[in-house]
Parts: sequence; structure tokens; C-alpha cells
Amino acid sequence: MSRSVESLFRPFTFNGLTLPNRIVMAPMTRSKSPGAVPGPEVAAYYRRRAENETGLIITEGTTVNTPVSTGDPNVPQFWGDEALAGWKRVVEEVHGAGGKIMPQIWHVGMMRNPSKATNTHLPSHGPSGLTKPGSKHAEPMTTQEIKDTIQAFGQAAYDAREIGFDGIELHGAHGYLIDQFFWEGTNEREDEYGGDMVGRTRFAVEIIEEVRRRVGDDYPLILRFSQWKQQDYTAKLAQTPELLGAFLKPLSEAGVDMFHCSQRRFWEPEFDGSDLNLAGWTKKLTGKPTITVGSVSLSGEFIGSFMGESSEATGIDDLLERLDKDEFDLVAVGRALLVDPAWARKIHEERYPELLPFSPEALATLS
Ligand SMILES: Cc1cc2nc3c(=O)[nH]c(=O)nc-3n(C[C@H](O)[C@H](O)[C@H](O)COP(=O)(O)O)c2cc1C
Repeated sequence: MSRSVESLFRPFTFNGLTLPNRIVMAPMTRSKSPGAVPGPEVAAYYRRRAENETGLIITEGTTVNTPVSTGDPNVPQFWGDEALAGWKRVVEEVHGAGGKIMPQIWHVGMMRNPSKATNTHLPSHGPSGLTKPGSKHAEPMTTQEIKDTIQAFGQAAYDAREIGFDGIELHGAHGYLIDQFFWEGTNEREDEYGGDMVGRTRFAVEIIEEVRRRVGDDYPLILRFSQWKQQDYTAKLAQTPELLGAFLKPLSEAGVDMFHCSQRRFWEPEFDGSDLNLAGWTKKLTGKPTITVGSVSLSGEFIGSFMGESSEATGIDDLLERLDKDEFDLVAVGRALLVDPAWARKIHEERYPELLPFSPEALATLS
């Protein structure tokens, strides 16, 4: 007997937005937007998830308007008439199917490879020009470049509201620009954007404040963050609950409504002496709602998928047990929803034998 899925299908409201259930499509870069414009196939891809009971869709990362925010011309941008018209079509398709959707607003920072990106003549941006500890590839961002980038995030949030998105998520995870400011391994600045852990949150705090200035208080704002970095899976921004609390406080106070706590495996406890995962601790420390993520209904984690590994479908009893205890509020699902638009519906109807495995070939198409 499997556990009841009832707790996953309770509605949830935050900052005026009511979701029909607790299932979130995790942001997943698909690189299927030639010229950085999301086309009708992208809109149809998201619509299929909305039609099948996905409570909230967070889009693939989409980049802000600076010359060096992206490393891939097929990643959709979030500026310019053509791309925003493409995004508006995505919103209309998802809303037409009764779904909710937010863009994930992104700047890749030093993870951009200038030789493969647009504006190849320009060096990448990062707090200290480091791609990872000890690996310097550019000059540190100037204060003016920092201010311009903060404004670009604010403009993206404004445009998201204008074209009808239900809120936004800021990508502050996985070693990209915002996370490069958070992490001592890539932020060696000695001005107000660096220094101790709280100083290193300042860039994100100013982005959040600018977003709030542009969209007001009554617009849902999610911040995604992670302890791990693609540059170092064992990295941790905060080694103890006390430090995690100190890290989250300025971000929470600046106006984040919900934290999206990225783990590669949701069941891993964040600190010794407690079963709570990162979303559990974040909820407890901030009092704000949280999203968990990481290998839901799959046997292997997602970095392995990029190395060609497949994952078997698994049950979700351990997830439901944590959700029943309200350890976190929402559950993001990545690869399982990438391979199967009907994942949420199958879970609702407890059609477990029909859950699909994940194989890396799925990355080739927008099915
Ligand atoms: C193809 C692919 C692309 C991804 N792109 C992004 C992204 O643009 N932004 C982001 O925050 N995470 C991204 N991720 C991470 C996912 O959001 C998610 O955290 C990860 O896949 C773990 O969830 P899963 O085990 O359910 O797949 C990506 C993952 C995959 C598989």
C-alpha cells in the first residue's frame, strides 16, 4: 500500500496566488529557442504540463538584458519585443490550460564561455572575475556594472508582470551570477558587495529591493538558492543552522515570498542531528514557505543525467511523509516532468506503474 497522495493535492496560497496543488515544474534549460526567442513549440511544451495538473510551472532560466548575461544563443532571453512576445504566448497557452507560470530570471555570470556566447569580444561578469576558486578569467565587475545588472533584473520582473506571468523566480543557485556573489569561493570583493556572508548577500538584496520597487509588494517572488555549486558539489554557503539563518535573514527581509531550496536529493538531511532537509531548515528559520527539489520519483540525481546516466522511476512515499509533516510547502519536479508531461496526473491517479524512467535522450526533444 502506498501512502495517500492527498497532501500533494491540497491548494496553497502565497502572496495572493492560489495554486491548486503542491507540484511545481522545476526550471530546466532546454536550449530550444533559436535566436533566444521562445517559439510556439516552447509554449506548447509548457501547456502540456499545465493541462496535466502541474500546479505551478517555473520556466527554464531566461536571461536579463545585459550584454553578457547568457552563454547560449538558444537559451531564451527575457528582453526585446520578439522574445517578450514569445513569452506572452507561453503565458497565454499555460493560462489557457488553467495553469500558473513564472519565469526563472537568470544571469550566468562567470559560467559564460565568451568564445561560445553572443558578444564574444566582451569578458564575462562576476564579482571577482573567478569561474571557481583560484581560476580568474576576467576583471571584477565595476560598481556601475553591478548597478546596471540590478536594474536589468528589475526590468525583467516588471516585464514579467506586464505580460501576465503569475510571479517570478530569481535564479540565485548552482554557481551562476547571484550565487557567485553569495559564495566566498568566487567573491573576494572588499567593497560593500563582498566581505562576510551578509555582505555577500548584498547584490541579491539590492536585486530583490529593485524588483519590489518595480512590481510592488503584491507580486509573488521566489528566490532559488543552493548550498552546492556546479563548480563544487560539496560547497556550502552555510555550515550550521545558525549561519543559514544569518544568510537567509537579509534576503527574507528584502522581500522574498518563498525560497526554492535546491538539493540534488531531497531526502538528504542538511545538518547533522536532524532529518530536516534544506527546505525544511529554511522554512523553520525564516517562517517563509519553501519548495523542495531533487530526484523526486527517480533513482539517480540530475548531474548524472548530464553524464549520460539513466534513472529508474521510484515511488514517492518518503516525499509524502515529509510533506504530511509540512516540512516544506511545495515540491519541484525536474526530469520526471521533462520526460512525462502527465507526471502530476499520474501521481494524482496513483498510476505508479506508468511513471517513466529518465534517459538522457529525452533532452534532445521538447516532448
Ligand atoms: C536539462 C536540465 C536543465 C536544467 N536547467 C536549470 C535551470 O535553467 N535553472 C535551474 O535553476 N536549474 C536547472 N536545472 C536543475 C533542475 O531545476 C532541478 O533542480 C534538478 O533537475 C533536480 O531535480 P530532478 O532530480 O527532479 O530532475 C536543470 C536540470 C535539468 C535536468
